[in-house]
Amino acid sequence: METATTAGRACLMAVLVVVTAVTVSSLCAAAGGVESPAGRNCTEFIRQSCSATRYPSLCYSSLAGYAGAVGEDPTQIAHFAANNSLAQVSSLSYHVLLLYRAAAAAGVDPRIAAALGDCAESLGDAAELTRQAAAELGLLAKAEGPELAWHVSNAQTWMSAALTNEDTCTDGFAATAAAATAGGDVFMKADVARHVRRARRYTSIALALVNSLVGVAR
Ligand SMILES: *[C@@H]1O[C@H](CO)[C@@H](O)[C@H](O)[C@H]1NC(C)=O
Ligand SMILES: *[C@@H]1O[C@H](CO)[C@@H](O)[C@H](O)[C@H]1NC(C)=O
Repeated sequence: METATTAGRACLMAVLVVVTAVTVSSLCAAAGGVESPAGRNCTEFIRQSCSATRYPSLCYSSLAGYAGAVGEDPTQIAHFAANNSLAQVSSLSYHVLLLYRAAAAAGVDPRIAAALGDCAESLGDAAELTRQAAAELGLLAKAEGPELAWHVSNAQTWMSAALTNEDTCTDGFAATAAAATAGGDVFMKADVARHVRRARRYTSIALALVNSLVGVAR
């Protein structure tokens, strides 16, 4: 009896240790929908936050992997979204810059080449603006009082300016539509426009999540 109780206690202790370790390490860790100690589901937090965006499913699929790090912090989810957007836009701007150089060298319709060059420049600006927005969001963690609203407002300004620059790229291409007569040029134009539209969704998601920060007290 005595032995059984001792063994039972040891067993209980072991279980407690394991439970504690799991609880601590799973502050809503796994993306798969582990509950936080408070009983809330952090994947659900991502889903709810994403419902405020124009692209809820892309938002969810691109951010669910960060559920553990985001927890239920609206600033963190906006920061991750801005970082995702930065990765998309800067890689696209590099891709378009290479296309522009190749097009100029290959002697494609100069109007198309010029549009590509302008687009690469707009996307470079968009990437820089997104980088500034992300940096601004990074300052939120240590900000207090009126500084919070100031950083949120700056992040809104930079993210929406990034969106405008992406639109400048696609508008520039639309303007050269009539000029694009050769098949290959038309394909390239469509390809760039498609990629810009895709990157733009990430920017739009980040902007919506930044907009959600307005008035949120920390
Ligand atoms: C958490 O939420 C996600 C998405 O709503 C769901 O798929 C998952 O089953 C939930 N997990 C728990 C533990 O409630
Ligand atoms: C965003 O990216 C910056 C720079 O790479 C990094 O320092 C920061 O930790 C990232 N933040 C989030 C929330 O992803």
